[in-house]
Amino acid sequence: MKRNDNKTKKIDEKLQGSSLKFIQKQENPKKVYIESYGCQMNMNDSEIVASILLKQGYNTTDDIEEADLILLNTCAIREKAEKTVRNRLKHFNKLKQNHPETKIGLLGCMAERIKEKILEEEKLVDLVVGPDAYRNLPELIEELEDGRKAVNVLLSKEETYGDIEPVRLHSNGVSAFVSITRGCDNMCTFCVVPFTRGRERSRDPESIFNEIRDLKNKGYKEVTLLGQNVDSYLWYGGGLKKDFVKQPEEVKKNAVDFARLLDMTAEKFPGIRIRFSTSNPQDFNLDVIKTMAKHPNIAKHIHLPVQSGSDRILQLMNRKHSIAEYKSKIDAIRKYIPDVAISQDIIAGFSTETEADHQATLELMDYVKYDFGFMFAYSVRPGTAGAKNLPDDVPQEIKLRRLREIIDKQQEHSLYRMQQFTGKTVEVLIEGNSKKSAQHWMGRNAQNAVVIFEKNGNYKPGDLVKVKITDCTSATLFGNAIK
Ligand code: 5AD
Ligand code: SF4
Repeated sequence: MKRNDNKTKKIDEKLQGSSLKFIQKQENPKKVYIESYGCQMNMNDSEIVASILLKQGYNTTDDIEEADLILLNTCAIREKAEKTVRNRLKHFNKLKQNHPETKIGLLGCMAERIKEKILEEEKLVDLVVGPDAYRNLPELIEELEDGRKAVNVLLSKEETYGDIEPVRLHSNGVSAFVSITRGCDNMCTFCVVPFTRGRERSRDPESIFNEIRDLKNKGYKEVTLLGQNVDSYLWYGGGLKKDFVKQPEEVKKNAVDFARLLDMTAEKFPGIRIRFSTSNPQDFNLDVIKTMAKHPNIAKHIHLPVQSGSDRILQLMNRKHSIAEYKSKIDAIRKYIPDVAISQDIIAGFSTETEADHQATLELMDYVKYDFGFMFAYSVRPGTAGAKNLPDDVPQEIKLRRLREIIDKQQEHSLYRMQQFTGKTVEVLIEGNSKKSAQHWMGRNAQNAVVIFEKNGNYKPGDLVKVKITDCTSATLFGNAIK
């Protein structure tokens, strides 16, 4: 799966709307078609849904015409995502005219917000299920079979789906995602996630290790630990992050934080390359940096979204750090891990952003020289503090012009970073054929850069190969395998 080739989009456009066919059980009489939008966590959720439904008599299909159940796993992060969903639902309803018995369901981050409208007013769906209620799908589907509409959008304090082994719908057999936290407590004023995915909770380390062990036994060579804010991971026996302070001393003493989880994972699985995403600057700390420096099997890449280079805007966004603090974290990272890759998320045109704030963002980019990034124009999300309290007062054309300048600067820096690899030998984990040529392999180095090299020698996907880099673009390295 290609994740960062289009380095301007965190949400991988190539995966948007993807529906994939994977495990089948012969005895299963029914078929479910699942189309997924949004971030990696949401893609991972679709795999959990497929796993639950597989036990319920549903095999997955990529042919919508043969589906008994059509599911749309939605994203709410920007306005555009919402429009796409409505269009897809209308399209599914047209198909339903020829297959009236087919049921249509809406899952994911949009479920809570638009349930009434699409269920009752527009009658576009039969089933609405929020991100914490997938375990309830069998009962909800039973309700459908009895001819009723079914809804569960309740958010949970405990649900982590820790015991459910996802079916790997979006995987290349080499690299897989493993969720470690759900929800987010940060309340950035632009972000809808705390409302759509609920309060933050962490997953039992044992269930994380079991999942990785299982992946390893299936031949996987890389895992990405996923969470909205992985550095905030905290396991103290289950429950919400915010309730940790109320625990007795004994419980607090035995708690596992992110640095510890990372350390244990790296130690237990020396043959697996470990990545993680996303880090939040306010929670990312020296312990994590030192753990990364200590273990060669932890990839040398940190995704550290900054959103803006202006202290005033960061404050309005309710980001709980200053630019000086952010820079000092960048300096510490580079001190301990000199060859690290750092990537960003930046929002252009947030509420009241001036030309001077925008310049501060460009200056920060010059300071860090990110390897790559994901850049967006601000899009007000209903229900957020931004929508309630802050004006959306930067005209669209100015937002887009600033976004263009940010993307252009990132292109320059990406090219600069990639050029630093030319002439050097890097270790590449082969993921599969290059999309453009069956004569070439595609893989990634420890810094998460895509590397393309000619197939000579007896390599196969999952092998770690030394590649001498000869050439690059701002998004891709080219080279030759060396024996
Ligand atoms: N408008 C624009 N971009 C947003 N992001 C989150 N919410 C919004 C919004 N309302 C971006 C942030 C975040 C990434 C996942 O998406 O940069 O880090
Ligand atoms: Fe993922 Fe955020 Fe979209 Fe939810 S709203 S699917 S968390 S990107």
